[in-house]
Amino acid sequence: MRITLGVTGGVAAYKAAELARRLQQDGFSVQVVMTRAAREFVAPLTFAALTGQNVITDLFARDTSGSANLESAVEHIAVAQRTDLLLVVPATADILAKFARGLADDFLSTLFLATAAPVVVAPAMNVNMWQHPATRENIEMLRARGVRIVEPGEGYLACGMTGQGRLAELEDILAAVRDALHLKRDFETETVLVTAGPTCEDLDPVRYLTNRSSGKMGYALAQAAARRGAKVILVSGPTALPAPDGVQFIPVRSAEEMHKAVLASFSSCTVAIFAAAVADYRPAARHAHKMKRTKAPLTIELEPTPDIIADVARHKADRLLVGFAAETDHLAENARKKLAAKNADLIVANDVTAQGAGFDLDTNIVTLFSRDNRETPLPLMSKSEAAQRILDELVRLRSLPHTASASRRSAG
Ligand code: C5P
Repeated sequence: MRITLGVTGGVAAYKAAELARRLQQDGFSVQVVMTRAAREFVAPLTFAALTGQNVITDLFARDTSGSANLESAVEHIAVAQRTDLLLVVPATADILAKFARGLADDFLSTLFLATAAPVVVAPAMNVNMWQHPATRENIEMLRARGVRIVEPGEGYLACGMTGQGRLAELEDILAAVRDALHLKRDFETETVLVTAGPTCEDLDPVRYLTNRSSGKMGYALAQAAARRGAKVILVSGPTALPAPDGVQFIPVRSAEEMHKAVLASFSSCTVAIFAAAVADYRPAARHAHKMKRTKAPLTIELEPTPDIIADVARHKADRLLVGFAAETDHLAENARKKLAAKNADLIVANDVTAQGAGFDLDTNIVTLFSRDNRETPLPLMSKSEAAQRILDELVRLRSLPHTASASRRSAG
C-alpha cells in the first residue's frame, strides 16, 4: 500500500524521518512531500535516502530553462490517485488552516484537495498556537469532514514552554495509520454475501433492459470484507470490473438468476449486503428471435422481478442485512421506510443526483440509517473508504444487544 507522507515546517520534522523508516519496515511504500518551511528543518535528501524515492518539494518542477514542465503541473493529481493514505507529520497550524479552508498554494495543500484517500494528520506546535480558537475551529472542521487527528501530547516544547503541542508518539501515529487503512481482521468469523452491479433483463437475443450501476460499490465492499478476514461470496450482474482477489465469484445476468444464486448461498452467510441495482421489472415475454421493426407503435409488457432482499429477510435469523437506497428525493424518509420494509439492519442511502455521488464514480456520499435509529452522514469519500465505514457500522451493530433485532422480528 502507498502512503504519501507530507512533512511541514516544525521542529518535529526530524521525527518524520524515523516515521518514514518505520512505515517502510511495515511494508508500506512511502512518497514524501515537503513544504518549503519543512525544508528549513530537514533536507529532502534525508527522506529520499530513507525511502528510495524522490521527494516532491514544489508544485512546479522546472526544466533547465527555468520554466515549469508539464509533468509537474499535473503531478499532484497523479499522486492523489495512486495514494492509499495521506499522512501529515508534523502538521503545522498553517497546513491545518489551509486544509480546513481549501487553500491550494503548494503541492501538499493541492494534493489534500485532490485526493479521495483517507487523511491522517499529527499536529505539532506551540501550546498557544494549538489552543488558539482559529486552530481549534480548523481542527473541528477537519474532523467533521473525516480527517483523523492524532492529538499532540503534553510536555516540554521546543519553544521552551510546557503544555499540549508536542508531536504524538510514533506508535500512536502508526496505530492511526493502521486504523485508517482498516488493516484489522475483525471479519474473520463472518461469511459475507454481497450482490453487486446491474441486472440485464432480456427482451430478445440482442436487446435488454438494464441500468447505470457499475458495480463499484459492491465490489469495494466485497474486497474490504475479504481484506478484513471474511469469507466472501460475490454475486454480480454484468460489470466491467475484475473479480476482487480472494472472493467466491458468482456471475449472473438477470434478477431471476441473482435471486437463485442468493437463495443458494444465503444459509451459509452471516452478513448479506445487497448493493446490486436489481431491475424492478422485466419483459413479460422473452422473444426467441430478434424482434423485427414494423411501422406500428410497440408496447412492451413488463412484470415485476422478485424482491431478493425482502424474500430472504424472512429467514434472516441472526444475520445482518444491509440494503441500499439510491434516491433522487426525500432521502431520509425513503431510507427509513426501506429499513422497516426490508427488515434490514442498515440502509446505505445516497442521493444519486448529488455531485460526487452515485453511478459509475469512484466516490460516493452516503448516509447510514441503522436499525437502532442512528443516522450517520458520511462526507464525500472513495467507494473503498465508504465500504470500510459500512463494515465498521456492521461491527457496531453486531455488538448491540440481540433484543433489538429479536423484537423487530417478532414485531414484523
Ligand atoms: O426497493 P428498492 O429497489 O429501492 O430497494 C433497494 C434495495 O433492495 C437494494 O439493496 C437492492 O439491492 C435490493 N433489491 C433487491 N431485489 C430487487 C430490488 C431491490 O434485492 N428486486
